[in-house]
Order: sequence, then structure tokens, then C-alpha cells
Amino acid sequence: MSCADCSNAAKEAREVVAAVGSEPEKVIPLLQEIQKRHGYLSQELIETVAEEINLPVSRLYGVATFYSQFRFHPIGKHLIKVCKGTACHVAGAEKVYSIISEDLGVVEGETTEDGLFTLESVACLGCCSLAPVVMIDDNIYGKLSPAKMGKILKEYADGK
Ligand code: FES
Repeated sequence: MSCADCSNAAKEAREVVAAVGSEPEKVIPLLQEIQKRHGYLSQELIETVAEEINLPVSRLYGVATFYSQFRFHPIGKHLIKVCKGTACHVAGAEKVYSIISEDLGVVEGETTEDGLFTLESVACLGCCSLAPVVMIDDNIYGKLSPAKMGKILKEYADGK
């Protein structure tokens, strides 16, 4: 890490703490704020925020690893969330998930080598009547079949 990186991280850590607060009970919102800014929790920001609020880094990592909402690696350009809630499960979510996983060559939480896609499964996305449902970035796709899903992936890969 260069000194410029150090000072950038320190500056950002101060901004994060100023926005959220420095009380020990603010650890989760602080981690959420870091992830909101970068899409994941970078080691340097966790360390600088811990320093800023005078808590051991291990405390922040302890909380971050407990909750599945937190990521420790950068996400791809497009984040694919496959719903595996009950309605989607019954409607064939696993087949849709498999086609994505096979097409892209990634498994849960991984990002494609070209940095284009990250694959995640989630619980109910709140539109069960459209099951099975997949969310890519902010777009919802419903009543999916493996073939339909493959077509949608291709559109994104082609630069949608
Ligand atoms: S179970 Fe998938 S949207 Fe509700």
C-alpha cells in the first residue's frame, strides 16, 4: 500500500465514521456504509475504520464474518441475485441457478474472470408471483426458464 493509499483510506474512514457515528453499537452500520461505497469490505478500510473508532480490527471482522450480507471481495460489473425463496424454489430456481453457474463458470459468491458477473443466491426478492425470479443489478426478471435465462445473460455479456 502506498502512502497515498494510506491517506485516502484514512480520509474515507473519517467520512464513514462522520456519516454513521463512532459508538461501539454502530459497527454493523459502519460496515454497511463501507460496503455501500465499494460493493465489498476492503481490508484497508476495515482496519482504518477500526483505528478511527478505537476498536480492535478483530471485532469488526468478527461482526462482518457473522452476517452473510457482507462481502470481502470486489463484485463484478453486474451482480446476479438468484432468488431461492420457497416460491422460486418450487418454480425451478435451482435449474435457473445451474444454467447461470454453468454458463459463467462460477459458483456462489464468485466473480467471473473478466470481472463482468458476480453470482449470489438470496432469499425472497418480494415478487413471488413472478417465480422463479432473478435480479441483475436493479432489474428484475421473472417467470424464467433456463433458456430464457441464458438469453438474458448473453444480452448482458454483449454489453446491455
Ligand atoms: S420466493 Fe422468490 S421472489 Fe419470493
